[in-house]
Amino acid sequence: MQYSDKILTLEESNTLAISALAQSLKKSGKEIINLSTGEPDFDTPQAIKESAIKAINEGFSKYTAVSGILELKQAISQKLSRENSLSYSPNEIIVSNGAKHSLFNAFGAVLNAGDEVLIPSPYWVSYPEIAKYNQAIPIFLPTAQENNFKITPNQLRDALTPRTKLLILNSPSNPTGSLYSKEELEALGEVLKGSNVWVISDEIYEKLTYSDGFVSLASLSQDLLERTITINGLSKSTAMTGWRMGYLASKDKTLIKAINNLQGNSTSNINSFTQMASITALSPALEGEIETMRGEFERRRDFAFAKCSSIPSLSLNLPDGAFYLFINIQKLKRFDGDSMRFCKALLEEQGVALVPGVAFGVDGFVRMSFATSLEILERGFEKIAKFVED
Ligand SMILES: Cc1ncc(COP(=O)(O)O)c(C=O)c1O
Repeated sequence: MQYSDKILTLEESNTLAISALAQSLKKSGKEIINLSTGEPDFDTPQAIKESAIKAINEGFSKYTAVSGILELKQAISQKLSRENSLSYSPNEIIVSNGAKHSLFNAFGAVLNAGDEVLIPSPYWVSYPEIAKYNQAIPIFLPTAQENNFKITPNQLRDALTPRTKLLILNSPSNPTGSLYSKEELEALGEVLKGSNVWVISDEIYEKLTYSDGFVSLASLSQDLLERTITINGLSKSTAMTGWRMGYLASKDKTLIKAINNLQGNSTSNINSFTQMASITALSPALEGEIETMRGEFERRRDFAFAKCSSIPSLSLNLPDGAFYLFINIQKLKRFDGDSMRFCKALLEEQGVALVPGVAFGVDGFVRMSFATSLEILERGFEKIAKFVED
C-alpha cells in the first residue's frame, strides 16, 4: 500500500515518549506529579455549562452555518473591538474546532509547496508539522534566553527571501511565556512593510498575562491589519479545552471565503451547543470569573518562579504570560543539555513529568506547567530539588 507523501512527513510528538513513560510508571503504582499538561486545571465556569445545557434542552442540535452562527460571530466581533481595538465584522470571522483547527485552516489557505514559513524557536509543537503537511518549508528563527526568547527586527529582515510566505507570532508564547511589547511588534511590522508576507498572530494565551503589555498585532497599523490572520479561542482563557472552540479573523475576503470552503468540505460547523455556550463565555459578564482564574495563575507563577530560582543549578526568566516556566538545565553536567534524558531520569527517579525542550525545537531547556495547585507545585519542586542535588 502507498500513502500520501505529506502525511508521512508528520512526526510523532516528542512529548509522547514522556507521557507513555509517566502512564506506565503510574500503572505500576508510582506517585506521578504531572507538570507537563497544557491546560487549565479549573472547571469550565457554571454559566457557560448552563448555556450549553439550555441549548441542548431547547433542541439546538442541528447543523449551523459553517463559520458559526451570526450571534456568536457578533459576540467575537464585539470582544475584538472592546478588548483588542480590532475592527472585524462578523463576516470576517470563522469559528473552528479549537485554535489548532483555525491554524490548520489558515496555513492551508495561504501555503503552496516550497513556500517558506518563518517560525521563531522555541515554538509550539504543531506549527512546523502543519507547515510540512502543506509541503511548505519551516525556517526556524532561533531566539535566546538573554533576549527573553524574542526575535529581533534584524533577524526577521535577514530571514526574508522571495519564497517567504508566512511568519508565525505567538505572544504570549508557549513554551517560553514571553510577551512582545507594542514597540517590539511595531518594529517587526516595519520590516514586513512592502512585502507579501502573511502573519499569523496566535493570541490564544492573551488572557493569561501578568503585566499590562498584551497588544493584538493587527491593531497596530493598517498594513498589519491587512496582512495578519488573528487567531484566538476559549480553551485557555475560559478553561474550555475539551469544548473545542477557536476562531480566526481576517480582513481578506478571498481568504475568508477559501477557509469557509475548506471547512465546509471537511468538518463543517463546530458543535451547535458549544456555540451557544461560547456566546456566554465571551460576554462581559464572565470577565470577573476569568480574572479570578488569571489571578490564581499569577499566584502560581510567582510561587513556581521563586521555588525554581532558589535552585542554583537551574536558571529561568520570569514569564509574562501563559502558564509555563521554561527552565535552563545546561549547568547540570550529568545531562550535558540533553532535555529528553533529563526528563526521563526525573520521571523515573522522582516521578515528576516535565516536557523536554527538544519537543519545542531547543535542547538544554525543559517546560514546566504551573496550571496546577500550589500544593502539587510545592511537592514537585521538593522532588526536583532532590533530583538536581543528587
Ligand atoms: C500556542 C498554542 N496555540 C494553539 C493551541 C491550540 O489550542 P486549542 O486548539 O485548544 O484552541 C495551543 C494549545 O496548546 C497552544 O499552546
